[in-house]
Amino acid sequence: MTHDVISGGQSINAPDNLKPLLQEILQQALRVGEGKVADYIPALAEVKPDYCALTVATLDGKVTSVGDSEVAFSIQSISKIFGLMLAMERMGESLWDRVQMEPSGQPFNSIVQLEWERGIPRNPMINAGAILVSDVLVSHYSTSKAAVLSMVRGLCNNDTLSADSRVHESEREHGSRNAALAYLMKSFGNIDADVEEVLDHYFWQCALTMNTEDLARSLAFLANRGKCPRSGRQITSHRDAQRINALLSTSGMYDQSGQFAFTVGLPAKSGVGGGIVAIVPDYGVIAAWSPPLNSYGNSARGMAMIRNLANQLGLSVY
Ligand code: DON
Repeated sequence: MTHDVISGGQSINAPDNLKPLLQEILQQALRVGEGKVADYIPALAEVKPDYCALTVATLDGKVTSVGDSEVAFSIQSISKIFGLMLAMERMGESLWDRVQMEPSGQPFNSIVQLEWERGIPRNPMINAGAILVSDVLVSHYSTSKAAVLSMVRGLCNNDTLSADSRVHESEREHGSRNAALAYLMKSFGNIDADVEEVLDHYFWQCALTMNTEDLARSLAFLANRGKCPRSGRQITSHRDAQRINALLSTSGMYDQSGQFAFTVGLPAKSGVGGGIVAIVPDYGVIAAWSPPLNSYGNSARGMAMIRNLANQLGLSVY
């Protein structure tokens, strides 16, 4: 049996029981041999490359998963969404004087553009932009980490969720390039707080661990016009949810965002831990995880699974 859902003005013909389809897609993805597990810190390099998980959380509250969906992993840059939400709430329109909303066309940790553009990051989804957002949080909250943690725990209704202290420490030890980005922004007057404190928040946020079920549930509000479908609480305004989705569409998959829009057509965000989340407006959230990354830093199997599912169900928003 299937049911029609209207997403972004288009009709999705999805089966009520998604499990067999997800199972088939996972099996196909396991045959993808491409990719290399992130190895810039030991805690990520040690993760088994054969982990693979796929979850779909729909707005009616159903969560369907296959594979290693209960194994928590380092969400890395996916956390940039959570930081951005809080910074948008705190700063309103003035945030956009300090960070742009354009795709960078550069690797996520690139530094060259930042000097040309006088310390204003291209968007909040590259490292410079997320460090800027971390500055906003450190400057506006007495305990910025507690503010992010309590929001994320509330969103996925999981009070055990936390950051991995080993990943946090290693990020700091190997964080010279991020420190360079932060100090360059400080030199242009675009970082207010103490740089080391800002970096500590950023590294901690990257070290948050979640499984695909928590991730899919936590971002359901972005598919539901800003409202959490579980609690009914308005997490962001409809307009801010649209804006976050727009940023994810143009910058969420780094300099593979154009190809992702072309082949999948959904707002999405990836992290070097191998996770990817994709938002299907008015339908739900897809979360995929598999550690080996392609040359852009996006999970190779995660990309294959989301592309396959989106194409089979006709999920593109375009
Ligand atoms: O900032 C860093 O270099 C790491 N924590 C990587 C963050 C990340 O996931 C970037 N993207 N894919």
